[in-house]
Amino acid sequence: MTNKLTESSIERLRSLKRPTPKDLESFLVEFHNSKPGITENTFGACRTGEGLSSYQVLVDLAGNLVGATVVDLACGNGALTHLLADQVGTGGKVIAIDMSKSELSLARERLAGRANVQFIEAAAADIPLSPRSAQAILCHLALMLFNPIAPVVAEITRVLQPNGVFAAIVTEFSTSTFGELRSLLLDSLKIDGWEPQYLALGDPQTKDPARLRALFAPPNFDSFDSNLFQVVLRGSASELSDLLIEFFYHTILLTEQTREKLRRKCESILGIESTVELPIFLRTIIARRSDE
Ligand SMILES: C[S@@+](CC[C@H](N)C(=O)[O-])C[C@H]1O[C@@H](n2cnc3c(N)ncnc32)[C@H](O)[C@@H]1O
Repeated sequence: MTNKLTESSIERLRSLKRPTPKDLESFLVEFHNSKPGITENTFGACRTGEGLSSYQVLVDLAGNLVGATVVDLACGNGALTHLLADQVGTGGKVIAIDMSKSELSLARERLAGRANVQFIEAAAADIPLSPRSAQAILCHLALMLFNPIAPVVAEITRVLQPNGVFAAIVTEFSTSTFGELRSLLLDSLKIDGWEPQYLALGDPQTKDPARLRALFAPPNFDSFDSNLFQVVLRGSASELSDLLIEFFYHTILLTEQTREKLRRKCESILGIESTVELPIFLRTIIARRSDE
């Protein structure tokens, strides 16, 4: 059923000369419906030099959340939700939001019986929560997928309390082997007749630190900070290639033959050591809502 859905969405995407951001969002959500848990499959295993996952880095970045009402925006299968539910404690609340039914259903199973967690199927640009109802909004590896970003920032601004915190982690492709592998993917798409320039996911404003800063500027936000950090994914070249091929959204558009060629190229870039260490650069973002 889910595969069929994906096939039809691929066909639809192919029939569109220039898909709109809405078309690409549908593709993305259908992708997650067909592969729930895919982000944690890859990033759950990545570690910083101190042994932390990027999910833990984000929780630590947000500061003291005990007793707080916290939104996990685009929660996926609930990896961050789980950490947050422990962090806020029984006196706090986590509201986990996502557009994908299948991701939400895994997250619900994982946190069954936790009275301090609520799940909502909704779009980030239309958060069904009252103004000033959250002390923190966290977003792990999703901000760079929202397009357009302005209405999402408007919702974050509306829902945060004065002095509330928005904290996010986004991908950073400009450096590292991870970026090199992504360029290979773009070449593979061209081989199969796609035009990758029309398939880019997310709003370009989220890929540029200066433009990100401008999104969270005064008067709505009174502080903003963003830093690069590195996590490492370890495994054999073939394990890592499989993980990455699965993880990159656009590989699902490739023919079996092109995907196999890409897999072999990935393996040869990753090397022949029995355990390969693939560095992946990520970017933290933290902004504080002004005290109105
Ligand atoms: C890369 S995954 C990250 C999932 C989770 N935060 C994690 O890191 O494990 C992106 C998530 O964003 C969700 N998503 C994409 N666009 C969305 C939107 N406009 N509103 C809400 N959720 C969205 C997808 O369904 C998916 O679960």
